[in-house]
Amino acid sequence: MTGKMEYLTFFNGHKMPILGLGTAHALGDDIEKAIDAALEIGYRHIDTARRYNNEAQIGRTLKKWLDSGKIKREDLFIVTKAMEGQVDAGRARSIGLSNFNARQVKRVWQSARIKPANLQVELHVYFQQSQLRAFCRALDITVCGYIPLGAPGVRPPGRAAITVDTSKQPKRDQMTNPVVSQIAQKHRKTNAQVLLRYVVQLGVAAIPKSTNPDRLRQNFDVFDFELSAEDMEALEQLDKGSAGRQVRAFIPEMANHPEYPFNAHY
Ligand code: A2P
Repeated sequence: MTGKMEYLTFFNGHKMPILGLGTAHALGDDIEKAIDAALEIGYRHIDTARRYNNEAQIGRTLKKWLDSGKIKREDLFIVTKAMEGQVDAGRARSIGLSNFNARQVKRVWQSARIKPANLQVELHVYFQQSQLRAFCRALDITVCGYIPLGAPGVRPPGRAAITVDTSKQPKRDQMTNPVVSQIAQKHRKTNAQVLLRYVVQLGVAAIPKSTNPDRLRQNFDVFDFELSAEDMEALEQLDKGSAGRQVRAFIPEMANHPEYPFNAHY
């Protein structure tokens, strides 16, 4: 990688690498190889969850790297879904939220003994979450965007952790959008790199998923160029607001929640 990794700093002083690796839908051997390749390239921020059904493989690979002495635990930023007790026990340093709307964030923020440091939500050029970002900024909560490339080609296998309802979606063509292509050509970067650089320049962390070493390398290589104010403005225009949302995280038990189906404006 050329260029230097950037970090977001939480209210509590801990830092999160602004670019990380998404691991949903990556299973078995694929995920072990992807983690190996990503650590080799320099990724140090890895997003995980029990629902991705790959914690054992990720844990095994990380242990191999830690045991080898090639990386230290303090250099790694591992995201999982943890809470106050984990911080008290010293097993987690910061608490983040995921898939919460502004009202839900506010409620946790008001009632939590240990305030949330970060909110992870779907965020890409078609769904830029500008109001939610402003809301989080006011509470000193950083934001991390998942599916920053718009999840091109995601076909969740089997019992998927997240359901992508393709029938009701706007086109998922961020990667081939002509505005993105034009900016990419100007900077001699790929469309994916422009999409990721845009998110990073918004001050938001991005966790593109890939199991392919070339694409892992490409996605990590976004710190040696800068989008101009004009580029940023052109990309901002691509926002479709909530019509650009692609993922409806659906867990059956959710339907029993009093706020279901969570249709808040932001
Ligand atoms: P693969 O794992 O084969 O690289 P998102 O993070 O928005 O969900 O995007 C992930 C999807 O995009 C995966 O299907 C991944 O496939 C693909 N992908 C990741 N990086 C790139 C890239 N740089 N160019 C094209 N496709 C990519």
